[in-house]
Amino acid sequence: IGTKKQVTGYLLFSLATAVIGSLQFGYNTGVINAPEQKLRAFFNNTWMERYAEPIKPGTCTIVWSLSVAIFSVGGMVGSFSVGVMADRFGRKLSMFLVNILAVIGGLLMGFSTICSSYEMVIAGRLVIGLFCGLFTGLTPMYVGELSPTPLRGAFGTLHQLGVVVGILVAQIFGLESLLGSDKLWPLLLALTVVPAVLQCILLPFCPESPRFLLINQNKEEQARKALVRLRGTEDVSKDMQEMKEESSKMAMEKKVTILELFRTAAYRQPLLIAVMLHLSQQLSGINAVFYYSTGIFESAGVTQPIYATIGAGAVNTVFTVVSLFLVERVGRRTLHLVGLAGMAISALLMTIALLLKGYSSLSYLSIGAVFLFVAMFEMGPGPIPWFIVAELFSQGPRPAAIAVAGCCNWTANFLVGVSFPKLEV
Ligand SMILES: *[C@@H]1O[C@H](CO)[C@@H](O)[C@H](O)[C@H]1NC(C)=O
Repeated sequence: IGTKKQVTGYLLFSLATAVIGSLQFGYNTGVINAPEQKLRAFFNNTWMERYAEPIKPGTCTIVWSLSVAIFSVGGMVGSFSVGVMADRFGRKLSMFLVNILAVIGGLLMGFSTICSSYEMVIAGRLVIGLFCGLFTGLTPMYVGELSPTPLRGAFGTLHQLGVVVGILVAQIFGLESLLGSDKLWPLLLALTVVPAVLQCILLPFCPESPRFLLINQNKEEQARKALVRLRGTEDVSKDMQEMKEESSKMAMEKKVTILELFRTAAYRQPLLIAVMLHLSQQLSGINAVFYYSTGIFESAGVTQPIYATIGAGAVNTVFTVVSLFLVERVGRRTLHLVGLAGMAISALLMTIALLLKGYSSLSYLSIGAVFLFVAMFEMGPGPIPWFIVAELFSQGPRPAAIAVAGCCNWTANFLVGVSFPKLEV
């Protein structure tokens, strides 16, 4: 009976509120994809207004890739600051405050055309990146700390699911007939303000994380109260006991700094694995697809490239669900390797399709290859690096390891984002 009552409506409500943050991350990853031509035209127009000559194609590409990739610079800083912020303000207030960044970033991008300033697009993307970097830490943390232990893995995947659904939503809103038009694209970029406000309205009804209340603040009574509401039962002694054990374990194991992490020989192998997995995730080029796929399809001669991009988002969502079921059964190593091999094969197919783009039937090959690429990514290289770091390290070095891995991830994300348009030419 006890386990049955563990999943209450209140728990689901709180998790759903937190997952808005994952949706936001996905939305802002995918949203820049569709309006590429509109943004380039906007850069060109502003340039004309200011200097009375058209922008040089090279300069235009630089401004464009900077607008895309500066997102990852913000993300890097954000993911580094999560721990400090979450421990200082608590999980709930942190999420509330971070949404202010979404409002600032959204407004900067939304008013960029009115102010004739492409700098505002770049600044907005930087602020939004910071916002997303913070949420990629805050949401999984909050979800993990609220979920009952036996369901922590299952609920943990909600973050990844929220991200891919967010990408899909961005792709649909990016349709020319919806918000991807010449006039409405600033609204498309600014739309991120809406879920931010919604989350701020809902958050006051959510509980503070019991784990934060007990372990960080030593407020046992308040932690118990939050748990009683979340579990729907008065008997929360098992959860309380577990958190107390975790707390005493933490007290016994010394916190390892990033410098010590690099110096200690025992951490060298797990650190190498964690860093390699994160680099392989990003350098596989998946974000080239999420940021630029509409352009890729266009150059492969697909007549309605945006629908192919939406298809890729749908494949992405479906295979994220598939991998949820596989990951506990097949093993991380096999899935990661199979996924990377599959991605290599589909990249080869994509190259062939692009080389032979004169034949219209081959445009379907390019669509198929991108779909396979995305599917294989979500099999292993997508979800695995995020939770493997926590599995490889014990309590003491874990926060430092997560920070290093996150930093590698966002750095590689930036490099791919900034170099792809250059490589493409
Ligand atoms: C900028 O606009 C001008 C005229 O409107 C056009 O000729 C030129 O090709 C455009 N340049 C770029 C890089 O889009």
